[in-house]
Amino acid sequence: MTAAGLTATRGGPLRGRVRAPGDKSISHRSLILGAMASGTTEITGLLEGEDVKRTAAAMAAFGARVERLGAGRWRVEGQGGFSEPLDVIDCGNAGTGVRLIMGAAAGFDLSTTFTGDASLRGRPMNRVLKPLGEMGATWIARSGGRLPLTLRGGNLKTIAYRLPEPSAQVKSAVLLAGLHAKGGAVVIEPEATRDHTERMLRAFGAQVEIAPMDDGARRIFVPGGQALSGTQVVVPGDPSSAAFPLVAALITPGSEVTVEGVLLNPLRAALFTTLQEMGADLVITNVREAGGDQVGDVTARHSALRGVVAPPERAAAMIDEYPILAIAAAFAEGPTIMRGIGEMRVKESDRIALTAAGLAACGVGVEEEPEGLIVNGTVRANHPVAGGGRVTTHGDHRIAMAHLVLGLAAEAPVSVDEPGMIATSFPGFVEMMTGLGAQIQPADLAPA
Ligand code: S3P
Repeated sequence: MTAAGLTATRGGPLRGRVRAPGDKSISHRSLILGAMASGTTEITGLLEGEDVKRTAAAMAAFGARVERLGAGRWRVEGQGGFSEPLDVIDCGNAGTGVRLIMGAAAGFDLSTTFTGDASLRGRPMNRVLKPLGEMGATWIARSGGRLPLTLRGGNLKTIAYRLPEPSAQVKSAVLLAGLHAKGGAVVIEPEATRDHTERMLRAFGAQVEIAPMDDGARRIFVPGGQALSGTQVVVPGDPSSAAFPLVAALITPGSEVTVEGVLLNPLRAALFTTLQEMGADLVITNVREAGGDQVGDVTARHSALRGVVAPPERAAAMIDEYPILAIAAAFAEGPTIMRGIGEMRVKESDRIALTAAGLAACGVGVEEEPEGLIVNGTVRANHPVAGGGRVTTHGDHRIAMAHLVLGLAAEAPVSVDEPGMIATSFPGFVEMMTGLGAQIQPADLAPA
């Protein structure tokens, strides 16, 4: 028995200009806020990945009219509230989808049963259920607060919630529930996390008050009883997706790749700063305003990289980028030390463990810590790593893409399993990469 996989092989330079797919975080929020609002929301540049399509289907199940008008162009007719879904809401692989939708649904007097794929059913939901419970929502879940679970909302009371972990998903769930809570909701975040919910709530006409606190935390207040109005959303390119072709260019000799229209929100773009500190020739041009955020074109040229200490205080602003940073680090001279990244263990997979295992399978020296990862790069910058690994992804799209990028510059080809999961966040990844000159082919893999 063989299974479908993908193999990446070292070839010539990567060259060209591409557009990153729409940002996943903003795409989910545009559909959810559009469904909660009254009136029409027109979205352009929506990421048509599996995760976001699940959220679109969920919003239809809650009573919104959701229509695809063309590539990335969607219209949502919100009902100004949610009605009770007739069936289970299956969020697939999407932690963002399920957690934000739980927050939104908690504000309404209805019961919803949520589930997801095997990865999502293994992920912690208590981090969202705890504050929603303090606000008055009730639920019944599998042990450990795992999906499937049924949530009953409505009649919520106010909360002042200090985030125990840096999580934009938890923050967002509480803020969305707060819109319908008596007295609203306050979230205090000791470490700033991506602020798309706050920005987009304002674009949908809501009042959101953000203030720094004496201890350096941010206090975010959403008054209760607020109605949202439909608006236009222009979804920028996803920096988390742009990272893959850009790092591929940095590690592949002779390459020059530009990704256009990439979101540069400072709470998302910290990977670019870190790569520049590693000596990457990464240049950002044509910086402009789009949809209330800054976007720009990012050009990467093959570079001699050196290992760095990735500052832990930057972790939240690049939490999804550590697998691909680890690949860049494998080609850098000297160790790259990544600490304060315990949250990586509760993503679509345990990304610390799988990145460490994938790199080790490709001959890269790596040390795993409970909340950290140290990658011992090559002795000389640009010395190719051995490669040759068959990487187990546990269905994690970013683990798959990161190791395929490694294979493009390694001595021996690298294979990944479950390649279909790449479409959760980056449909068209293989086509984009091969269009730039990458050698990525379907492969039959023997069982691991
Ligand atoms: C996301 C927040 C992050 C991130 C995820 C998307 C969001 O998760 O890892 O891919 O859109 O709010 P946490 O907020 O749980 O850290």
